[in-house]
Amino acid sequence: MGRRRFLVVSTAAVGTTSTVGLTVNGERRSAAVDNRTSLLDLLREHLGLPGTKKGCDQGACGACTVLVDDRRVNSCLTFAVMHDGARVTTCAVPACPAWRPPVNADVPERAVLPAG
Ligand code: FES
Repeated sequence: MGRRRFLVVSTAAVGTTSTVGLTVNGERRSAAVDNRTSLLDLLREHLGLPGTKKGCDQGACGACTVLVDDRRVNSCLTFAVMHDGARVTTCAVPACPAWRPPVNADVPERAVLPAG
């Protein structure tokens, strides 16, 4: 019977955090994150940008959509470390195709309804 060999991989030898630098909505930002952090969680929890929404967190709803170097990406399905150095546009700015003005932007403070 042959002798079995095992490859032992120690997670201690591999870094578990990385510093990710992004240009978000034209502003240079960086954060040290766990390598398993999604781009969505980096934006919301580490960079304080809650405008990108977390819906299903499984890639089904599209609420977390951002543009990464002008490509549409579900940010909940991709690791932040994969996008180090990228240009990210969230839907909090008009450059994003899914951007919509705030609901009340065109509504006057007081609406006058026709009578009769
Ligand atoms: S949160 Fe639903 S697709 Fe990302």
